[in-house]
Amino acid sequence: MEEKEQPSGGLHFVGKKDELIKAQRSFRTLEGRDILIIYHEGVFYAIDCYCYHAGGMLQNGDIEDINGKLCIICPKHKYKITLAEGEGLYRARNPMENPPILRWYSKGVKQRVHTVTETNGEVFVKLTTSPFWIESDYYQGEKGKVERAKA
Ligand code: FES
Repeated sequence: MEEKEQPSGGLHFVGKKDELIKAQRSFRTLEGRDILIIYHEGVFYAIDCYCYHAGGMLQNGDIEDINGKLCIICPKHKYKITLAEGEGLYRARNPMENPPILRWYSKGVKQRVHTVTETNGEVFVKLTTSPFWIESDYYQGEKGKVERAKA
Protein backbone atom coordinates (compact mmCIF):
# COMPACT_ATOMS: atom_id res chain seq x y z
CA MET A 1 0.00 0.00 0.00
CA GLU A 2 1.27 3.45 -0.85
CA GLU A 3 2.02 5.46 2.25
CA LYS A 4 -0.08 8.61 2.51
CA GLU A 5 1.33 10.84 5.20
CA GLN A 6 -0.63 13.55 6.90
CA PRO A 7 0.95 17.00 6.72
CA SER A 8 1.46 17.29 10.47
CA GLY A 9 1.66 15.30 13.66
CA GLY A 10 3.58 12.35 12.22
CA LEU A 11 0.37 10.47 11.49
CA HIS A 12 0.52 7.80 8.81
CA PHE A 13 -2.60 6.66 7.04
CA VAL A 14 -2.58 2.85 7.26
CA GLY A 15 -5.94 1.94 5.78
CA LYS A 16 -9.69 2.14 5.90
CA LYS A 17 -11.14 0.94 9.17
CA ASP A 18 -13.38 -1.66 7.49
CA GLU A 19 -10.48 -3.16 5.56
CA LEU A 20 -8.25 -3.36 8.63
CA ILE A 21 -11.02 -4.97 10.66
CA LYS A 22 -11.56 -7.54 7.92
CA ALA A 23 -7.83 -8.27 7.67
CA GLN A 24 -7.46 -8.43 11.51
CA ARG A 25 -3.67 -8.24 11.07
CA SER A 26 -1.96 -5.95 8.61
CA PHE A 27 1.70 -5.41 7.89
CA ARG A 28 2.90 -1.87 7.11
CA THR A 29 6.27 -0.19 6.68
CA LEU A 30 6.28 3.34 8.07
CA GLU A 31 9.40 5.48 7.93
CA GLY A 32 11.37 2.29 7.26
CA ARG A 33 9.94 0.54 10.32
CA ASP A 34 7.98 -2.71 9.89
CA ILE A 35 4.93 -2.78 12.07
CA LEU A 36 1.89 -4.92 12.62
CA ILE A 37 -1.57 -3.43 12.98
CA ILE A 38 -3.85 -5.74 14.91
CA TYR A 39 -7.59 -5.51 15.34
CA HIS A 40 -8.75 -7.54 18.31
CA GLU A 41 -12.05 -7.39 20.23
CA GLY A 42 -12.93 -3.93 18.97
CA VAL A 43 -9.53 -2.32 19.51
CA PHE A 44 -6.66 -1.49 17.16
CA TYR A 45 -3.06 -2.00 18.24
CA ALA A 46 0.20 -1.22 16.44
CA ILE A 47 3.36 -3.03 17.44
CA ASP A 48 6.81 -3.69 15.98
CA CYS A 49 6.32 -6.83 13.92
CA TYR A 50 9.57 -8.66 14.82
CA CYS A 51 9.77 -10.18 18.29
CA TYR A 52 12.32 -8.63 20.64
CA HIS A 53 13.69 -12.05 21.59
CA ALA A 54 15.10 -13.29 18.29
CA GLY A 55 13.23 -11.47 15.55
CA GLY A 56 10.33 -13.90 15.12
CA MET A 57 7.49 -12.57 12.99
CA LEU A 58 4.54 -11.85 15.27
CA GLN A 59 1.93 -11.70 12.49
CA ASN A 60 0.57 -15.21 13.10
CA GLY A 61 0.92 -15.23 16.88
CA ASP A 62 -2.09 -16.24 18.96
CA ILE A 63 -3.63 -13.64 21.24
CA GLU A 64 -4.45 -14.60 24.83
CA ASP A 65 -5.51 -12.86 27.99
CA ILE A 66 -2.71 -13.34 30.48
CA ASN A 67 -3.17 -12.01 33.96
CA GLY A 68 -5.76 -9.52 32.67
CA LYS A 69 -3.61 -8.26 29.80
CA LEU A 70 -4.01 -9.15 26.14
CA CYS A 71 -0.80 -10.66 24.85
CA ILE A 72 0.46 -11.81 21.50
CA ILE A 73 2.34 -15.08 21.72
CA CYS A 74 5.37 -15.16 19.46
CA PRO A 75 5.07 -18.29 17.27
CA LYS A 76 8.81 -18.90 17.43
CA HIS A 77 9.57 -19.53 21.12
CA LYS A 78 6.22 -18.56 22.69
CA TYR A 79 7.31 -15.38 24.42
CA LYS A 80 4.32 -13.34 25.64
CA ILE A 81 4.11 -9.64 24.78
CA THR A 82 1.32 -7.33 25.92
CA LEU A 83 -0.40 -5.67 22.99
CA ALA A 84 -1.05 -2.35 24.66
CA GLU A 85 2.33 -1.73 26.31
CA GLY A 86 4.82 -4.10 24.68
CA GLU A 87 5.76 -5.64 28.02
CA GLY A 88 7.41 -9.03 28.09
CA LEU A 89 5.64 -11.33 30.55
CA TYR A 90 7.03 -14.48 32.11
CA ARG A 91 5.91 -16.96 34.71
CA ALA A 92 8.03 -17.88 37.67
CA ARG A 93 8.03 -18.78 41.34
CA ASN A 94 9.47 -16.40 43.87
CA PRO A 95 11.69 -18.52 46.14
CA MET A 96 11.17 -15.94 48.91
CA GLU A 97 7.49 -16.92 49.08
CA ASN A 98 6.50 -19.81 51.26
CA PRO A 99 5.26 -21.85 49.50
CA PRO A 100 6.49 -20.40 46.18
CA ILE A 101 3.53 -19.90 43.83
CA LEU A 102 3.78 -19.73 40.06
CA ARG A 103 2.92 -16.13 39.06
CA TRP A 104 3.20 -13.82 36.07
CA TYR A 105 5.87 -11.13 36.17
CA SER A 106 6.81 -8.30 33.83
CA LYS A 107 10.24 -7.89 32.26
CA GLY A 108 9.32 -4.29 31.40
CA VAL A 109 8.72 -2.87 27.95
CA LYS A 110 10.57 -4.96 25.38
CA GLN A 111 8.54 -4.42 22.22
CA ARG A 112 7.89 -0.98 20.78
CA VAL A 113 4.21 -0.16 20.44
CA HIS A 114 2.73 2.73 18.48
CA THR A 115 -0.38 4.89 18.71
CA VAL A 116 -3.42 4.14 16.57
CA THR A 117 -6.20 6.64 15.95
CA GLU A 118 -9.21 6.61 13.66
CA THR A 119 -11.06 9.46 12.04
CA ASN A 120 -14.05 9.19 9.71
CA GLY A 121 -13.40 5.54 8.94
CA GLU A 122 -9.68 6.03 8.28
CA VAL A 123 -6.98 4.66 10.55
CA PHE A 124 -3.68 6.35 11.33
CA VAL A 125 -0.57 5.27 13.17
CA LYS A 126 1.89 7.53 14.89
CA LEU A 127 5.26 5.94 15.61
CA THR A 128 6.50 6.35 19.16
CA THR A 129 9.20 8.90 19.55
CA SER A 130 10.65 7.55 22.78
CA PRO A 131 14.40 8.03 22.42
CA PHE A 132 15.11 5.14 24.79
CA TRP A 133 16.32 1.87 23.37
CA ILE A 134 13.65 -0.80 23.34
CA GLU A 135 14.82 -4.32 22.53
CA SER A 136 12.61 -4.77 19.46
CA ASP A 137 14.51 -1.83 17.88
CA TYR A 138 17.37 -4.23 17.17
CA TYR A 139 15.36 -6.24 14.64
CA GLN A 140 14.37 -3.09 12.77
CA GLY A 141 18.00 -2.20 12.16
CA GLU A 142 20.47 -3.52 9.59
CA LYS A 143 22.18 -6.03 11.91
CA GLY A 144 18.84 -7.37 13.06
CA LYS A 145 17.66 -7.78 9.47
CA VAL A 146 20.70 -9.93 8.70
CA GLU A 147 20.03 -12.08 11.76
CA ARG A 148 16.36 -12.44 10.90
CA ALA A 149 17.32 -13.65 7.43
CA LYS A 150 19.66 -16.31 8.91
CA ALA A 151 17.06 -17.64 11.36
FE1 FES B 1 9.90 -14.57 19.59
FE2 FES B 1 11.88 -16.12 20.33
S1 FES B 1 11.72 -14.95 18.55
S2 FES B 1 9.98 -15.85 21.27
